[in-house]
Amino acid sequence: MNNFEYCNPVRVVFGKNTIAKLADLIDPARTILLLYGGGSIKKNGVYEQVQAALKGRKVIEFAGIEPNPRYETCMKAVELARKEKVDFLLSVGGGSVLDGTKFIAGAIPFTGGDPWQILTSGGGALQSALPIGAVLTLPATGSEMNCFSVISRDSTQEKLAFGNPKVYPAFSILDPEITYSLPQNQLRNGIVDAFVHVMEQYATYSINTPLQDRQAEAVVRTLIDVAPDVLSKKDYDSRANFMWAATHALNGIISCGVVEDWSTHMIGHELTAFFGVAHAESLAIVLPGMWQHQFANKKDKLAQLARRIWHVVDGNVDTQARAAIEKTAAFFHSVNMPTRLSDYNISKTDIEKVIERFRQRGTTLGEHQAIRADQIREILTLCL
Ligand code: NZQ
Ligand code: ZN
Repeated sequence: MNNFEYCNPVRVVFGKNTIAKLADLIDPARTILLLYGGGSIKKNGVYEQVQAALKGRKVIEFAGIEPNPRYETCMKAVELARKEKVDFLLSVGGGSVLDGTKFIAGAIPFTGGDPWQILTSGGGALQSALPIGAVLTLPATGSEMNCFSVISRDSTQEKLAFGNPKVYPAFSILDPEITYSLPQNQLRNGIVDAFVHVMEQYATYSINTPLQDRQAEAVVRTLIDVAPDVLSKKDYDSRANFMWAATHALNGIISCGVVEDWSTHMIGHELTAFFGVAHAESLAIVLPGMWQHQFANKKDKLAQLARRIWHVVDGNVDTQARAAIEKTAAFFHSVNMPTRLSDYNISKTDIEKVIERFRQRGTTLGEHQAIRADQIREILTLCL
């Protein structure tokens, strides 16, 4: 097992009617900036619950953080927060609102020039951050219990991630009933995003980490088991199990001491930046092609996945690993998630933009740092 440090300071408040607990979770002396997205919280009653819990508090609002939160929008919130001297940020929304809030929390006190440097430095340039609380309305990203954030910039068509322990939320409220208002495509996206998060921390090569392997398998097995009910009914137990599984998929616990490979996410982010496909949609396109291309590196773990998750017993390691790729694609299709670039009319010519960007950055991806621009062309060609 590799060396690691693990510390997760997020207080998770999970269950029915937990939004009311905001009253106890936020110090009454704070001036709160309440951040939200395009208005879903005003249609499903969440906004009213937040207002009721914060009655009598000093609350300033900032609405309009969009899916794939934009730097340009976040900077408007930074301006407002500085003007109003807010000292607590409350995110009420999905991963995008929370990611935007994390960036805003670091950008408000930033004194080193353009806060975009927080992104270009991967989080290293972040100096300090305002405290953050979250009411999560969409299970998917794990942002509610991690210190990562992904921000897009219109002017440069970039989508960059940063991580810094200073932006862990102080608390995250997870009420599964809030998910009842989610449309089918967002539920599907959440299931697939969480599934791929687990795979980026699992489908590499084994360094003898049986506990982490079993923990990762528990998360994906739970996602597969609950998916049909999540998509077909408003049932508390399946939503609760989905929500908690999605949190576990990226809260740092399954990555302790293991070998990770986030190349599907890195390539997926560029598909979103250039072609506007949703985050989870981009992952479902890239993952099967990535596994085919990286078959030799990943086949032992893929075969283990096939045996333990889908009970594939026949054949050798190669056959079982191929079964894992097929069954993963079939799982994506079962939740109505397309898996090809052509499903979004993205052509062989279009993908050259993505390849050129990786070439310019000189990025190397993969658990052996062996995936460069030319290999990314081969991978995306398998995804056409
Ligand atoms: O904006 P509103 O009106 O709230 O509507 C949102 C949005 O349109 C809607 N929604 C959210 N909760 C709802 C709801 N509609 C009805 N009922 C509810 N309860 O859903 C739409 C999508 O929301 P968004 O926050 O964009 O989705 P998600 O949580 O999937 O976040 C995606 C973003 O997270 C990043 C992605 O790249 C993308 O930008 N990621 C963040 C990560 C992290 N911080 O660790 C890791 C991930 O890999 C990912 O990259
Ligand atoms: Zn993701």
